[in-house]
Amino acid sequence: MSERSILDATEARVRELLCAEGTGHDWWHVHRVRRVALRLAAAEGADPCVAELAALLHDVADWKFHGGDERAGGRAARALLESLGAEAAVIEHVRAIVDGISFKGAGVSTDMPTLEGRVVQDADRLDAMGAIGIARAFAYGGHAGRLLHDPAQASAFHDTPQAYRESRGTTIHHFHEKLLLLKDRMQTAAGRAMAENRHAYLESFLARFLAEWDGEA
Ligand code: ADP
Ligand code: NI
Repeated sequence: MSERSILDATEARVRELLCAEGTGHDWWHVHRVRRVALRLAAAEGADPCVAELAALLHDVADWKFHGGDERAGGRAARALLESLGAEAAVIEHVRAIVDGISFKGAGVSTDMPTLEGRVVQDADRLDAMGAIGIARAFAYGGHAGRLLHDPAQASAFHDTPQAYRESRGTTIHHFHEKLLLLKDRMQTAAGRAMAENRHAYLESFLARFLAEWDGEA
């Protein structure tokens, strides 16, 4: 199969798998991540085919929903690409990106060793910031039965993937435990530039939310 046919077949399979996802990992998340990943890949000189395949496959089996198995995503990505006859080196590269991409707590390093990995990780993280990031956080919080906010609870610092996965904080806590940390963890210059605006939007949303919470706005 040609590179384009492998990409098209991967897209069709991922659409089918994620069309009914209600946790913020739906097909449209993947679609946005792919678009931004391709834009960052062009700016950074990364291989667009690997970046696109990894963006398409990055959420097919999220570790948080597979009992904390951090290799579930890579296995699913590998099986799909093998079934399409993709090249072994491409399969291994995409598998490594999918296994390494997720945020796993403020104290857990998730730096990516390849440029393509950095591009796709930045694109995924940008989708957790800005207006879309806010919408996704509250969609996830609702799905998980979380409170919007509880001023009596402090946010936590998670130094293991398990502590992060088992956290039961509010959605506003999630801003402090992940979303506001992303800007300083971007790994490409192009991603960092996009993160500035999205981060500023998160901060102004939080300020407004807390002012309304206190009846001051
Ligand atoms: P990503 O697709 O960016 O890797 P995740 O898999 O961590 O993101 O989560 C999907 C979406 O749900 C993201 O926007 C993320 O910030 C949000 N999310 C994850 N955990 C929580 C939580 N505990 N509370 C609210 N939102 C969350
Ligand atoms: Ni994602």
